Amino acid sequence: MARDTLKLGAVLIGVGDASGTELWRDPQVPLDASVNIDWYVKQAREAEDAHFDFVFIVDSQYITPDFPNHHLNRLEPLTLLSAVAYATNRIGLVATVSTTYSEPFDIARRLASLDLISGGRAGWNIVTSQDPGTAGNFSRSGHGDYDTRYRRADEAVEAVQGLWHSYEEGAFSRDRTAPRFLDPARQHRLDHRGEFFSVTGPLNIQRSPQGQPPLVQAGTSDQGRDLSARRADIVFSFARSTDEAIELAQDIRARAQAIGRDPDELLFIPALGVTIADTDEEALQIERQRTTAGDIRRRLAALSRQFDGHDFSGYDLDAPFPELPRSEDAGIRRFHEDIENARRAGVTLRGVLEAQALGWLRLVGSPETIADQLQHWYESGAADGFNLFVQHPADWDRFRAKVVPILVERGLFRGQYEAETLRGHLGLPFIDNRHAAAGQSNPPVRHLEPIQN
Ligand SMILES: Cc1cc2nc3c(=O)[nH]c(=O)nc-3n(C[C@H](O)[C@H](O)[C@H](O)COP(=O)(O)O)c2cc1C
Repeated sequence: MARDTLKLGAVLIGVGDASGTELWRDPQVPLDASVNIDWYVKQAREAEDAHFDFVFIVDSQYITPDFPNHHLNRLEPLTLLSAVAYATNRIGLVATVSTTYSEPFDIARRLASLDLISGGRAGWNIVTSQDPGTAGNFSRSGHGDYDTRYRRADEAVEAVQGLWHSYEEGAFSRDRTAPRFLDPARQHRLDHRGEFFSVTGPLNIQRSPQGQPPLVQAGTSDQGRDLSARRADIVFSFARSTDEAIELAQDIRARAQAIGRDPDELLFIPALGVTIADTDEEALQIERQRTTAGDIRRRLAALSRQFDGHDFSGYDLDAPFPELPRSEDAGIRRFHEDIENARRAGVTLRGVLEAQALGWLRLVGSPETIADQLQHWYESGAADGFNLFVQHPADWDRFRAKVVPILVERGLFRGQYEAETLRGHLGLPFIDNRHAAAGQSNPPVRHLEPIQN
């Protein structure tokens, strides 16, 4: 069954994001990969041929010239996934949309549209946005602190899900003989009034095939964990070890249980990077060659993003990591905790950069070695699946051609699709329209009677 096998996502990062900034220099990667829809479609079809659960598009809405190349020039996730939807049949399509810089009505409408276009394959990665500079692009005076952004995210999700309940199944009766286009008794207003949003509803698009597209959450701060426990179907993470991944899963499952959710509903899917060759030694050699001096400048820029743009270029790389004022609201909290621990232990700036590059699961080795590690993570309860960052085409090809068949042979991954929707692939239950389930306790929107001829 769907839950008995591991889940695979492919993160499409074009010319290379912070996880692989020099990817654009690989001659097999088109120089315009991040804005080239043919490239996204090609990679999505390849993922679909290997029966991946979904492709995933990360996003943000603020840059400086030092940001990773993919961030500088990339397609907007829902627009690009609509094109990918039309060129694929089965694979799930997970889009990142920020709750800090979007309104629930827009989010609900755009995701329902993608779900309709794709026949039930849309998913939403809920983010609160980590770059305070984003405020400057959205007519805001400030980015908001963690508590505020996560409270807003929670309320946004509640409103979005409420809007997705606007229509019961078959509400658009489209009966030419009656004549009646809409059955008003099966259309429902939302009337949401909260701290951040006022949303009357109903949504102006019918119930989509999944009704409720799956929700993903990746923040791992205290507030992020609570949001996952309350709202997420899937938790993405950067985990460095099985211990760390197990702690995260146990903690979020406990939080979910405490508020009455079935903790086993949640899927934990850490990020994965791979370098694959015929032998472990060969793979290690390739990995070493790829770590070039150019990386230092890029890694300093990535570090700067965690400190709201602080310029690290003038610092001595081999001196202890400097004590810096930092904005509480910038970056990823876990990275800051790591940096603070390193600073206290007297680790140098270079040491911090090297440790940050190792801040997630990177597997280097032969296809068997990679498959063994994935099996170990899966069977130890550290992961329900993996979110593979699609970096060098050679590794992507080997992962599909060599690693996936081993996983299939071991009974760890599907050899063919058994479902048509993303919910189906992930083994998530279908959620009935709450008004239908509740016997229409909410008042339907009042409409004029249809004109009788
Ligand atoms: C796999 C993964 C993907 C993420 N994708 C995005 C993204 O596309 N856009 C974004 O703004 N943040 C993204 N994030 C960041 C988180 O959503 C969150 O904002 C960040 O981890 C800071 O919150 P925290 O301190 O609660 O962890 C991602 C995180 C992970 C682990």
